[in-house]
Amino acid sequence: MTVPASPRPNPLTVPTLDALKARTSAKWGRFEPDVLPLYVAEMDVEFAPPVRDALARAVATGDVGYRTGTAYEESLVSFAAERWDWPTLAVEHIVAVPDVITGYTDAITLVTDPGDAVIINPPAYPPFFSFVKGAGRRIEESRLGADFRIDLESLEAAFQRATTGGRPAAYLLCNPHNPTGTLHTRAELEAVAALAARYGVRVVADEIHAPLVYTDASYTPYLSVAGERADAFSLMSASKAWNLAGVPAALLIAGTDSTADLARYTSVPRHGPSQLGALAQTAAYTQGGQWLDDLVAGLDANRHLLGALLAEKLPKAGYTWPEATYLSWVDLSAYDLGGEDPSEFLHREARVMLNSGPTFGTGGEGHVRINFATSPAILTEAINRIAHVMG
Ligand SMILES: Cc1ncc(COP(=O)(O)O)c(C=O)c1O
Repeated sequence: MTVPASPRPNPLTVPTLDALKARTSAKWGRFEPDVLPLYVAEMDVEFAPPVRDALARAVATGDVGYRTGTAYEESLVSFAAERWDWPTLAVEHIVAVPDVITGYTDAITLVTDPGDAVIINPPAYPPFFSFVKGAGRRIEESRLGADFRIDLESLEAAFQRATTGGRPAAYLLCNPHNPTGTLHTRAELEAVAALAARYGVRVVADEIHAPLVYTDASYTPYLSVAGERADAFSLMSASKAWNLAGVPAALLIAGTDSTADLARYTSVPRHGPSQLGALAQTAAYTQGGQWLDDLVAGLDANRHLLGALLAEKLPKAGYTWPEATYLSWVDLSAYDLGGEDPSEFLHREARVMLNSGPTFGTGGEGHVRINFATSPAILTEAINRIAHVMG
């Protein structure tokens, strides 16, 4: 008699609440014990089994020296060919870096000078602003449209302002976009590439969320659109999709016309990722596909659950339906909170921690970012608590 295989669990329902509360990283470790944390981009999951095994093997055998070789780079090349139908990505164009923020900051520093402009689409991931400013560059905003898609007219105006007088400029593109979960289409990316070529703006595409795309949408890698001669860069990492922020690593990819810049980058001393980070992420890209599919199915269910809960319990909330990521951008401005930032009010009154909208820049007022990478039970409890205090 054959025993039917037991269904694979939804990764979002595996850790118990007690296990989550015992965690020491930012999501569960930073705020008071009664607070439900749906803020920072960590997920309430355990390791994908192949990632856990790779790390356990390294720890058990003491294989924690300096990283060498190109297994990590090769793992992305294979993943990109299989998942994104992008067969032309080549290891020679990829350099491993400690993490994505380091990668985009270094790429911007490489192609612009102090005081030059970097274009950003607010509302946007707060460390876009802080690290660009920290690198001595100034920010030129091109706000997303009301539909949270790139507004090409506004982008062109920003490119024009940024390059006045022939100054170098870079565009920090987020694909998919954090916090709205917008997935830029091939046509939109083609238009971006054409504008970038016309104004000589160097595109740096942060594509950290790329594996987290729902099955009713499809992700297009920026460099696969910008063409073989792109003078752009892309940053990829397994750290969001497999929850590896604590074992970081990332890959900086140069378009063909950026290879001289990449050579300049590698000719000076710099750090790469740790051995554990590279081992974990290599295992994720090469053997983590099944777990990723199970995760995305669980996230998809939560995306629908969140939409239904908000419609029922917070009908005045504006829910941005994410096409990718486990983040959703919610407009609470129809609720009268006396001008207080909703995330502060909800932390204090509902004991739920969300990301504060204003930290995402222009357009963030009255908004919160909700991280729904948790169990349906925790998500439901959090929205119930919020509804209770919002009346
Ligand atoms: C768009 C984006 N870029 C970068 C990061 C952080 O990447 P890393 O931890 O590899 O520096 C995040 C984390 O949430 C993110 O959302």
